[in-house]
Amino acid sequence: MKAGLGVSALAALAGLALGQNAITENSGNFTLTADGMSYLFHVDQASGDLFSDHFGGPSTDFTPPAQIYQGGWSDGLTNVRREFPDVGRSDFRLPAIHIQHADGNTVSAFAYQSHEILQGKPSLPGLPATYGEDADVSTVQVTLYDNYSDVTAVLSYSVFPKYNAVARSFQLHNNGSDEIVIERAYSFSADLPNLDLEMIELQGDWAAEMNRVKRKVQYGETGFRSTEGYSSHIHNPFFALVSPTTTETTGEAWGFNLVYTGSFAATAERFSHGFIRVLLGLNPLHSSLHLAPGDTFTSPEAVAVYSSEGLGGMSRSFHNLYKNHLSRGVQTKQTRPILLNSWEGLGFDYNESSLVTLAGEAEALGIELFVNDDGWFGTEYPRDNDTMGLGDWTPNPAKFPDGLGPYVNDVNNYTVLNSTSKLQFGLWMEPEMVNPNSTLYHEHPDWVLHSGQHVRTLTRNQLVLNLALPEVQEFVLSTVHRILDSANIQYIKWDNNRGIHEMPSPATDHAYILGLYRIIDNLTTTYPDVLWEGCASGGGRFDAGLLHYWPQSWASDDTDASNRLTIQLGTSLAYPPSAMGCHVSAVPNGITNRNISITYRAHVAEMCGSFGFELNPSELSAEESAAIPSIMAEAHKVNPIVITGDFYRLALPDETNWPAAQFISNDTNTAAVFAFQQKATVKPAAPPLRLQGLDPQARYWNSVDNVTYSGATYANAGINLPWATADYQSMLVWLYKQ
Ligand code: DGJ
Repeated sequence: MKAGLGVSALAALAGLALGQNAITENSGNFTLTADGMSYLFHVDQASGDLFSDHFGGPSTDFTPPAQIYQGGWSDGLTNVRREFPDVGRSDFRLPAIHIQHADGNTVSAFAYQSHEILQGKPSLPGLPATYGEDADVSTVQVTLYDNYSDVTAVLSYSVFPKYNAVARSFQLHNNGSDEIVIERAYSFSADLPNLDLEMIELQGDWAAEMNRVKRKVQYGETGFRSTEGYSSHIHNPFFALVSPTTTETTGEAWGFNLVYTGSFAATAERFSHGFIRVLLGLNPLHSSLHLAPGDTFTSPEAVAVYSSEGLGGMSRSFHNLYKNHLSRGVQTKQTRPILLNSWEGLGFDYNESSLVTLAGEAEALGIELFVNDDGWFGTEYPRDNDTMGLGDWTPNPAKFPDGLGPYVNDVNNYTVLNSTSKLQFGLWMEPEMVNPNSTLYHEHPDWVLHSGQHVRTLTRNQLVLNLALPEVQEFVLSTVHRILDSANIQYIKWDNNRGIHEMPSPATDHAYILGLYRIIDNLTTTYPDVLWEGCASGGGRFDAGLLHYWPQSWASDDTDASNRLTIQLGTSLAYPPSAMGCHVSAVPNGITNRNISITYRAHVAEMCGSFGFELNPSELSAEESAAIPSIMAEAHKVNPIVITGDFYRLALPDETNWPAAQFISNDTNTAAVFAFQQKATVKPAAPPLRLQGLDPQARYWNSVDNVTYSGATYANAGINLPWATADYQSMLVWLYKQ
C-alpha cells in the first residue's frame, strides 16, 4: 500500500466509486472490497469447501491460516474456518445448513462448482432485501453442489462498498427425486479467527425494548433467539461483536442483522481452537422446511457491517445503507407529518362526534395527520374493548352511522394551523388477528393458527390468522383494499399484538412470514402514497424486513420520555432514527407514573423521523399548551435533518446523567444536538459535551453560547451547557457552519 494514501482514496483509484472491481476472483480466491472493509474467502482445492479468510479492515492478500496441531479427535474440517458449514465431514461445530434426506440421514457435502460475478444485486423472490444499482453494489454467486444427495446451494454475497457492508443469502435447489427437509438454515455464516470478542445484543420485553446487553464470547455458544414467530421484543435479530476496548467512537465492531420478521436464531460459537463461528438465520425450532423435488428454498438475507470507528461507525453504516438501499417507500427520505394519535388520549371510548372534536383540537395545535387508533370497527361484536371485534373490519355503525367516508371528510375539512393544507386522516388496523368473539372466527375457525385439537392459547383475548393460507391472504388483502378505497386514508398503523404459540408445523412460521410479505408488498405497491407505520405492541417487530416495505415503526408502547431515551438510543444501534415513530404523551405517564416536562418529552420524541402526540389536547395544562407552538416550530425545523442527516450517540442515558445525541447534515453545514440532564445535581458538574462529525477546520455558530468555535474545539474541548438545578432538563442546540 502506498504510504499516505487513505483507504477511501485507494478504493476510488481502484474504481470502487463506480462499483467496479468490488469483487474479484483469482484461482478460487474471492476478494470483496469496500471503502474500509475487506471480506476474503477461498475454495479449498482438496474438499471443494469454501474457507473463510478475512472479514474486517482492508486486507489485500491471502495469508496462510493459523497453525493448529493436527491430531486427536478434532481434526479435518473442524480445524478450519468455513463459509457454509454442513453436517458431517469432521466438523463438530454448529452447521449453517442441516438437511434431512429422504432416507433419514443428515450428512451433506457441498463443494464448489462455479461462480458468477455481477454488477448490481438480484432481488430475492418473495423476501425483503437490500437493493442497489450497478454503481452501488456488486454480487458474487457461488454455486456449490452436493453430489451425494443431488442438492445445489447458491451462495450470494453482495458488497456495498460505501457502507462497508456485505449482504448474504443462499438458495437451495432440490435436484433429486425425493423430498428433503431443511432443519437449519443460517443466512450468514462465517468463521472469525481466535479474537477476544464481546457480543452486544438488544434485549427487552413489552414496553422495555432494545436494552443493550454485552457478554463475552466464551467457549461454547453465546447467542439468543426468538421463538415467538416474530422478530420480537425479547431479542432483536441484530447483534454486534466488538473488541473489549471498542467504544462508541473507536475500535472494531462487526454488526449482523437479519432482514426478516419471523423467528430467528443468532449464535457465536467459540470452539477449542478459539475460532468463532458466527451464525444468523431462521430459528431451527421453527424450520423443518419441506423441499419437494425440483423446488428451491431462498433464505432471508443477512447484512454484515464492519466498522473500525466503533459502534457509532457501525450504526451509521446500517442507517445509511437502510435509508438508501433497504427501505423502499417514497416517504423514506421525506419529512413526516406531525400526527396526533387517539390511543392514549381516548382509548376505545369514542364516537364520530368526539373524534371530530379531537381532530379539531389537534388542528388547533398545528397537527397535520389525525390518527384514529383501535376501536372503530365491529358490528355484531363491536370493538369497545379488547375482548372482541378483531377480524370484523366494518366500521361500527353505533360509532360511525354513515361509515368512514363522511367522517374522514369532516376530518379533512380542517385546515392545518398556519397552512393551507388539509388535516390528513390515518387509521389503525390489526389485520393479522382475530378475536374468538367475532363473526370472522365463527365463520372460519379453521383460519387461525392451531395445532390439531390442542388448546388455542389466547393472548390479549386474540388468535393469529394463518397467513400461510392463500385464502387468508386474499381475505386480508381484500379487507385492507376495501377499507383504503372507502375513504381518504393517508396513513395506516399496522399493529400486531401477540406472538405465535400453536402452529400446524414448525415450518408454518416461515410460510406465514412469506404470506405477510406477499400481502404488504401488494399493498405498498398498490397504495404507494399511503404512509405505513409498523407496530407490534410497540417495538415487537422493529426489524429490517418490515423496514423494506414500511418507512417507519412505532418504537415502544412505553412513552415515558426517560425510558424512551434508552429505547430509542438502543434501537439506533441498528436502525435509523428516521424510521422510528415517537410521540409526546400525557403526564403522569400511563405506565411509569413519571412526571416529565413537556419540553423534555418533546425533545425525546423529536429525535425520531415520525414525531407526534398521543394525548387529549383538552387535558393539557396551561403551561403545556403555552409550550406547544414553539414545540411545533422546532419539530418542523429539526425533522429534515433527522430524516436525512447522520446520527451520533454522544452519551448514553445508562452511562451518564447527561445523555446526548447529534444529527449532522450530509454537507456537515448544520448540526442539531439533543442534550439531556436526567437528575438535578449539586456536584459533580456536567462533563463538557464533545460533538462529532463536524468539519474540524470550519467555524460553527451555536445557539446556546451565541458564538462561533471551530469544529475541532467542539470535538475536543466540547461545550458546557447551562443546566438548571432540576430533574429532566433538556436542550436542542443548533450549530451552523459560518
Ligand atoms: C398496541 C399498540 O402498540 C398501541 O399503540 C395501540 O395501537 C394498541 N395496540 C391498540 O390496541
